[in-house]
Amino acid sequence: MNKLAVISHLLSNALLQSPHKQSGTGFAPTNIALCKYWGKRDAELNLPITSSLSIALPNKGSTTTLTLIDQSIDRVIFNGRERSSTSPFVERLVQYLDLFRRERAWHLQVDITMNIPVAAGFASSAAGFASLVIALNDLFDWHASRQTLSILARLGSGSAARSLWMGFVEWQAGADPCGMDSYGMPLEKSWPDLCVGLLSLNNQPKPISSRRAMQQTVASSVLYESWPKQVSRDLVLLKQAIQDKNFPLLGSIAENNALSMHATMLSSMPPICYFLPETLEAMHRIWKLRAEGLALYFTEDAGPNLKLLFLKSDIKRVQIHFPEMLLAADGSQADPAIDARG
Ligand code: DP6
Repeated sequence: MNKLAVISHLLSNALLQSPHKQSGTGFAPTNIALCKYWGKRDAELNLPITSSLSIALPNKGSTTTLTLIDQSIDRVIFNGRERSSTSPFVERLVQYLDLFRRERAWHLQVDITMNIPVAAGFASSAAGFASLVIALNDLFDWHASRQTLSILARLGSGSAARSLWMGFVEWQAGADPCGMDSYGMPLEKSWPDLCVGLLSLNNQPKPISSRRAMQQTVASSVLYESWPKQVSRDLVLLKQAIQDKNFPLLGSIAENNALSMHATMLSSMPPICYFLPETLEAMHRIWKLRAEGLALYFTEDAGPNLKLLFLKSDIKRVQIHFPEMLLAADGSQADPAIDARG
């Protein structure tokens, strides 16, 4: 099945005719995976090999506003600056919009505002695609469930499937070849004392996109065989840690999960290494502080920067050691009431 077929399955033709309103808008939070999504069983539909689990950064994310325009192409404005129609970013976005342009041609001005340090590589495509889908839902008046929106967001970028909710979200891998059972589900648990800090260490462009890196890892790393086993264990332990508010368990499993994902990348051929000297230096500082009694852990995605995990009671101590850290989230804004039934 391809993306178009999935969309036709989820939304009737009538709903895809043309936008109902002049404009639509949506916000979606950035999410940080505690158990990572790394590897696809279907690259067209972004269907993952394993489930994954994240926490949302409630006030950090992307707002997208779509406005119908009387022009023959879409215009994309990112953080107040118009982007060239030939940039890979705009091309990926327009390709995604094309999936919804059926009988009638319409074009949009797409205004995207992200309040996360974009150059530092924290602005994953997750919040961007999720907010775009929420804005499309508004523009077309689909009244689609969060579950449907999660599937639609996944077609843009896998991790976007988790950005439809606040708090902890599990993205179920599912087994359906068409991915109708592969979407995000909020965990009905909040953890007001859990904090996430963004540690920007290097802003150079990434050597390889997460999309390509994932593909290369699955195709060539001998260690990848053990990844699904690790994820099964980590998901159980992370959910238990969230249930019991056991921070050392949550921190150590999230950190180990990230390092194991990077180990699969290091063992791929050719190797993929997102660690920079600054990354390793920060890791060693975190391990040293931990040995001295500070409950501080990290996770790392497809880039050299770290996300720090700690409890509210340690904010000041963490800030002394990492004054440049951006305090991005605590679990207090988890809202299990948000469409938990999908
Ligand atoms: C390391 O969702 O960006 O951040 O599905 O190809 O768009 P595509 O990949 P993407 O990959 C995210 C990878 C990760 C781990 C995670 O967020 O779970």
